[in-house]
Amino acid sequence: MKELVDYIARLCRKPPLFEPGEPRFWDDPHISKSMLKAHLDPSHDAASRRPEIIDATIDHLFASGFLREGLRVLDLGCGPGLYAERMARRGARVVGVDTSERSLDYARNSAAQAGLDIDYRHMNFLDMDFEHEFDVAIQIYGELCVFSNEMRDKLLRAVCRALKAGGVFIFDVTTRTLRTKKGISNRWYLSDGGFWRPGRHLVLEQGYDYPEKDVWLDQYIVIDEMGLKVYRNWYHDYSMETLEPVLKAAGFVVEKVWDDLTGTPYTGAGDWLAVAARRTG
Ligand SMILES: C[S@@+](CC[C@H](N)C(=O)[O-])C[C@H]1O[C@@H](n2cnc3c(N)ncnc32)[C@H](O)[C@@H]1O
Repeated sequence: MKELVDYIARLCRKPPLFEPGEPRFWDDPHISKSMLKAHLDPSHDAASRRPEIIDATIDHLFASGFLREGLRVLDLGCGPGLYAERMARRGARVVGVDTSERSLDYARNSAAQAGLDIDYRHMNFLDMDFEHEFDVAIQIYGELCVFSNEMRDKLLRAVCRALKAGGVFIFDVTTRTLRTKKGISNRWYLSDGGFWRPGRHLVLEQGYDYPEKDVWLDQYIVIDEMGLKVYRNWYHDYSMETLEPVLKAAGFVVEKVWDDLTGTPYTGAGDWLAVAARRTG
């Protein structure tokens, strides 16, 4: 017992920046099922945004001219294809990549039923090796925030390579405003089956703030009869002051900024920052 308590106490200490937790999250057999359910639930924004916001995002990106019929679009972390399908319906030629086989299975079936030609690929976008193939790359719902500086720069370089000369990367990131609004969670609960596990499990949830780095960690220790696992969701928040040099170093120039991807004018005080950055080379 002492060993277990010591172990949990050690896990509850603030970990070093971006120390990984359990590697299987998006593609865990049970968690991916819970996640797909969350993606498809139109009543909340937990995994994907609500349908009316997704519609408004696609409307905005077509109306502003960043997306157009015939363009080749790379959807990074496409999930169940909620954006990919809407873009394909308007004539974009979409390649969607994701690590969740479960989301991709759903996306492929849904596209087939709708008669849409979308190329879904099971791929870690950190390992992608597309070369000058796309007019536009999108990455929606803050996925860039989950990476350490090194991994983020690697991803940005890969996105830059994937784009044709003059291609555009459109994405959103969270700001400190959102983080401080949400606040630090510190709670535990016992579940008879839910998001983390199909059967009975205990969840110890704790948030850690690294304000000097604009980084935040939501940590979940999940205990069931099979053992204990620690999941770590890291978030690096940005402002235009911190984001612009990062994009520049990766070969992009910022072309347009909004407070969100539906095109809300930029104030710099929003919960989100949405960016269209053009490949310079
Ligand atoms: C927050 S969800 C957003 C999904 C989608 N963009 C949306 O807004 O509906 C992040 C997605 O990225 C995928 N993902 C996470 N890490 C990935 C990686 N390294 N390579 C490819 N996909 C990844 C997850 O499986 C998940 O579908």
